[in-house]
Amino acid sequence: MGKVYYVSKNIGLGLLVLVISALVTIIALSIAYDKERAKNQGQPGHRASDGSSTSPPFTTPFTPKEPWDYYRLPKSLIPESYQVTLWPQLQPNADGMYVFTGYSSVIFRCVKETDLIIIHSKKLNFTTVLGNHIILMGLGGVTPPAIRRTWLVERTEYLVVQLRWKLTVGASYKLHSKFTGELADDLQGFYRSEYTDNGVKKVLATSQMQATFARKAFPCFDEPAMKATFNVTLIHDRGTVALSNSKEKDYSDTVKDGVPVRVTTFEPTKTMSTYLLAFLVSEFISIQSSQNHLLIRIWAQRKAIADGQGEYALNVTGPILQFYGKYYNVSYPLSKSDQVALPDFNSGAMENWGLVMYRETGLLYDPTLSSTGNKERIVTIISHELAHMWFGNLVTLQWWNDLWLNEGFASYVEYLGADYAEPTWNMKDYILLYDMQRAFAVDALASSHPLSRKEEEVNEPSEINEMFNTISYSKGAAVLRMLSEFLTEPVFAKGISSYLNTFAFNNTVYEDLWNHLQKVVDKTPGLHVPYSVHEIMNRWTLQMGFPVVTIDTQTGTVSQKHFLLDPSSVVERPSPFNYTWFIPIKWMKNGLDQQQYWLLKKTDVHSSMRVSGEGWVLANTNVSGYFRVNYDANNWARLLSLLNTDHKALPVMNRAQIIDDAFNLARAQIISTTLALKTTKYLSKERDYIPWQSALKNLGYYILMFERTEVYGPLQAYLKKQIKPLFEYFKTITSDWTKVPAGHSDQYNQIDAIGIACGVGVEGCRELIQGWYKQWMENPNQNPIHPNLKSTVYCKAIAFGGAEEWDFAWRMFENASLASEASKLRSAMACTKIPWLLNRYLEYTLDPAKIRKQDATSTIQYIAGNVIGLPLAWNFVRERWSYISQQYGRGLFAFHNLVNGITMRFSTEFELQELKEFKEHHHAGFGSATLAMEQAIEKTTANIKWVTENKAEVLKWFTEETT
Ligand SMILES: *[C@@H]1O[C@H](CO)[C@@H](O)[C@H](O)[C@H]1NC(C)=O
Ligand SMILES: *[C@@H]1O[C@H](CO)[C@@H](O)[C@H](O)[C@H]1NC(C)=O
Ligand SMILES: *[C@@H]1O[C@H](CO)[C@@H](O)[C@H](O)[C@H]1NC(C)=O
Ligand SMILES: *[C@@H]1O[C@H](CO)[C@@H](O)[C@H](O)[C@H]1NC(C)=O
Ligand SMILES: [Zn+2]
Repeated sequence: MGKVYYVSKNIGLGLLVLVISALVTIIALSIAYDKERAKNQGQPGHRASDGSSTSPPFTTPFTPKEPWDYYRLPKSLIPESYQVTLWPQLQPNADGMYVFTGYSSVIFRCVKETDLIIIHSKKLNFTTVLGNHIILMGLGGVTPPAIRRTWLVERTEYLVVQLRWKLTVGASYKLHSKFTGELADDLQGFYRSEYTDNGVKKVLATSQMQATFARKAFPCFDEPAMKATFNVTLIHDRGTVALSNSKEKDYSDTVKDGVPVRVTTFEPTKTMSTYLLAFLVSEFISIQSSQNHLLIRIWAQRKAIADGQGEYALNVTGPILQFYGKYYNVSYPLSKSDQVALPDFNSGAMENWGLVMYRETGLLYDPTLSSTGNKERIVTIISHELAHMWFGNLVTLQWWNDLWLNEGFASYVEYLGADYAEPTWNMKDYILLYDMQRAFAVDALASSHPLSRKEEEVNEPSEINEMFNTISYSKGAAVLRMLSEFLTEPVFAKGISSYLNTFAFNNTVYEDLWNHLQKVVDKTPGLHVPYSVHEIMNRWTLQMGFPVVTIDTQTGTVSQKHFLLDPSSVVERPSPFNYTWFIPIKWMKNGLDQQQYWLLKKTDVHSSMRVSGEGWVLANTNVSGYFRVNYDANNWARLLSLLNTDHKALPVMNRAQIIDDAFNLARAQIISTTLALKTTKYLSKERDYIPWQSALKNLGYYILMFERTEVYGPLQAYLKKQIKPLFEYFKTITSDWTKVPAGHSDQYNQIDAIGIACGVGVEGCRELIQGWYKQWMENPNQNPIHPNLKSTVYCKAIAFGGAEEWDFAWRMFENASLASEASKLRSAMACTKIPWLLNRYLEYTLDPAKIRKQDATSTIQYIAGNVIGLPLAWNFVRERWSYISQQYGRGLFAFHNLVNGITMRFSTEFELQELKEFKEHHHAGFGSATLAMEQAIEKTTANIKWVTENKAEVLKWFTEETT
């Protein structure tokens, strides 16, 4: 899936600005965006969505005995082809329930003797066909065994058919069933979504199968390696359009059960996994184009398409598909590409083969209403999902334990595809902010885990869901980028192409990719790689964490050490490689690129890294490697001096990373806090976005820790001093805020400049913002605020204002016709400083008529991000925990994020105690957020320690810098 969900990457970053000004919510980076990452909500098996879980509680061990007790399918039957007919009813039945009915047949081959047919099925009621629930036929003249008994196993989500005698090895059979299911609004499997069009309620049926919900739509062998072809038929109201993975072949109008309907059939799909299936029945309309005979369509609500909101997505899809076709050297495997914007969708997007689903904010762009950030998110998320059309869909990892390769890969190449579509944006640099620094943050904790897990460690749906996390997406992306950098991009791309060509329509394990890359390496003369791809990559994928490389430029000594944010933390997980890595180090000396150096042991001497006098060394050029860098004091001093005199001598990504490394090395007590703070002094000269953003994110931690203390005054004064030149710069280049800057990153930086300047009281900022908002309130149909600045301006105007400003925002939120506009208002409303408004807003989150279910937990997070809202949100969540966890707890990311969002400021013993008590009281209730709770406790403990040890030094430094 695509990562995101709540807040897009860039909006998440924008929010940092808000925090800095002490007004809102910054949802710490680990939470913020995520393209897909939200995905899969479910922990079936543990907390059924209706709360009627019959499965044993999380803590009760269950010992499997029978074949149907295991979460993995037996290997005796292999599906080949399905015929699936589904009829979703978009009006409630007599009981007020929305249902769908279905018929399905599956042809499978018996490859191992068995008298059991075990097939996934979840929450389906089977109805009788000719007096039988299930019909089994033999193909090619084979006599099928008679059925002895059939039953459902709720825990493992199976339909079990026990036969009177055994199936014949080598023979094929066809299993037929008829069933009904609820078309619930639970965002899983085949589900319904609602919206209003000109005041008229509309209902649509759509699907989300990944990871384990295809079984909720029809009985199927629901594992990614059980690939088959699917002949899909949808029965639907005549006024609706039906879509599925392949092209519609045919339709006919008829009457079924007295209802006039249309029957749409689709071409058989290519051989594919069940989790990539998709169905849609809706009144959506589309715009389309064609590229080399490939039909490309963008679907959404009538109004959105009529307003042209699909145009940007349509414009970039063709080029992105073209880019991947070339990059992979495999043409697009399907005959059409549909992309759909859904009003209710749990994750950011889902790469269903040929029918990709998005949240509306991930696909719809309005040139007059959307910001640069919205546009960037759309192009990157499309690029991510389309990357999967080959990598993931055409060639699929055998099992979910290797999810990191699928998601890490798409999270890396999405930048290449987006760069191709928007060549002036420097998209490739943004991986530093959006993925690498995010991965560094999580992977520096003792509670991290290796990218790769063993197949047998991942079985039940909740374990599968746990794989959809920052490590899989962002560390996966960082490590693959490093691999591509040291192999060089042409070699990497050739290896990918060879892998895709070899395993098309098949399944793989991650070692298959290493093998194909190795083959290309072996055939590339002059490419120096000290060990095999396997040996090098094992150290990055089989052990958790990453190294800090220390270079002593006096002696030329280079050494590595496992980097842990809290040096006192105990790593309990042994590593097969003792936490050492094979590290490719690109570096420069005195401004000149040097030959890449490989650090292959704990300590080594590389004498060309010795410098003296004014000479300096910079390692990890363009942050191509996934590691941090530390230097001897002299080299640090020379780099700082260079930043202050000629910062452009260093690549922009490195300027950003020097700050991030320094702050984190200081957190880990490897260098002094003062040295870290000094890396921000040159910022008064910096005009580039990425270094600024990196600094603001790191200072954001100081704000979270000190906002409620006496350090905050001098800290604010320092920021004011540093930001003022940037604010003035943008004031000038925008002719007094009447224009937006032309450059993509300038547009972001303008947002930072205004956001921070206002928060720290730069003259003229508050008036500017209040003036804009007031103008809008006076004339709601004429919003004078530039889309780029909306998040910041709304938030601050609401913070500066009272109930009137808030209520106006709420009205605008309710009337917003563009999803991203609504989401900006939704986060801004959390900025108020008035407690009763915040409490009322918290209550709204539990009322789906006010805040959509998909947005509930992120809204609570926004409120928790506000220094005044934090205690209110924390109380609210504790009081309503059972309700919240039952309603919203099924989403791993939602949960994770909620816990992270609430605890990110925690830095006192009292808060730690509260957190521990909370955990004690609900020890069984966290499910897949258990890890998030542990991380929260670890982080709070570290915060307490850090504040105690650093407060005096930080106060002294900021005070000295501002007097
Ligand atoms: C699906 O259609 C194909 C081609 O028309 C056919 O060969 C196959 O048997 C069908 N599958 C099922 C389960 O009916
Ligand atoms: C399935 O059967 C159960 C138990 O009889 C019932 O509660 C549920 O409503 C049925 N679902 C549908 C979609 O008919
Ligand atoms: C889409 O492309 C067309 C043709 O190049 C262009 O005129 C239009 O402005 C583009 N639309 C968007 C939203 O970028
Ligand atoms: C899929 O890959 C496996 C293992 O590499 C191979 O044995 C099998 O023949 C392949 N199947 C197809 C349909 O290509
Ligand atoms: Zn993905």
